[in-house]
Amino acid sequence: MITEKAYAKMNLFLNVTDRRPDGYHDIESVMHAVDLFDLVNVKVKESGNSIITVETDAAELSFSEKNLAYIAAEKYTTKYGIKDEIKITLDKKIPIGAGLAGGSSDAAATLRALDIIYKKSNTEELLSLALEIGSDVPFCLVGGTAHCLGRGEVITPLCVKDKLCFVVAIGNERISTPKAFAELDARYGENFPDNTEMCQEMLAALCQGETISPFLYNVFEEVTNICSVKQIKETMIKNGAERTLMSGSGPSVFGVFKTHTDAQNAAESLLSLGYFACVAESVGDANITL
Ligand code: C5P
Repeated sequence: MITEKAYAKMNLFLNVTDRRPDGYHDIESVMHAVDLFDLVNVKVKESGNSIITVETDAAELSFSEKNLAYIAAEKYTTKYGIKDEIKITLDKKIPIGAGLAGGSSDAAATLRALDIIYKKSNTEELLSLALEIGSDVPFCLVGGTAHCLGRGEVITPLCVKDKLCFVVAIGNERISTPKAFAELDARYGENFPDNTEMCQEMLAALCQGETISPFLYNVFEEVTNICSVKQIKETMIKNGAERTLMSGSGPSVFGVFKTHTDAQNAAESLLSLGYFACVAESVGDANITL
C-alpha cells in the first residue's frame, strides 16, 4: 500500500484576469501548500478487471464517480491500460468545499501514488491528466509554493525563504465555485482589476523572507458576503493576526501570524465559537521538481 499526503492549498494571491472562450477564467495566483493534510492510501490487486473503490471517513463526501480521487484513478488506469482492483482510502482532515483544494489534492495524491506503484507516467503526462481533473490539481500535484497562470496549470515553482505560520478556519456555509466566478463576471464584465504589480511584490517578499501581509489579495473577497467570514477575520485580528484573507473562492479564511503562540490562541478562540480552525505552517518542499 502507498500512502501519500494530500496537502491543503491556500491562495496567498488570487486574481482573475480574463474570461476564456472555453468557459473557464484565466487567473494569476500564488498557491501555497500548508501542512493541513488528508492521507490518501492506495492499494492495488491484480485482477484483470478494472474495479476502483473509494472509501472515506468523511460522511459528507460523495463516494460516487464524481469523487476526484476516483476520477484520478479512472483517468490514470484508462490512459495506461491498467486493469486491476484499486482501493483508495481517504483519511480526511481538510474541510470539504472550503476553497482549500482538498478534493483536488486527494486527486493529485492519487496520481502520485499510482505512479509510484505502476511507474507508467512522466511529469508532463501527469500534469496533463491533473488538468483534466480540475484547475487546482496541477498545482496540488507539484506542491510547495508556485506562481500560477492560465487556469492554474502554468506553474512556476518558487523558493520561499521562511516557513510561514497561519490559522485556517471555516464556518458551515459553502460557496459554489462556478457561482463565485459568475458573480465576478457580473461585477467586472471584461475588465478585471489589474494587480500584476502587487503579485510581483508578493513573489519578491516570499523569496526574500519579508512580510507578505501587504500583498495578500483575493478578488473573490469582493463578491463574498458571508457572516462567518467576517466573524472569523475579526477573531483572528483580535488574536494578533497580521492580515487575514479568504482562500480560493471561499469561504475558508486564513490569518498570517508572527508567532505560533498567537496562532494557537486564535485557533482556540475560533474553536470555542464553533468554527473549524487549526494552525498550519508552510510545507516548503515541492512533491515534484519541474
Ligand atoms: O476546474 P474546476 O473543475 O475546479 O472548476 C470548477 C468551476 O469553476 C468551472 O466549471 C468554472 O465554472 C470555474 N472555474 C473558472 N476558471 C478557473 C477555474 C474554475 O471559471 N480557472
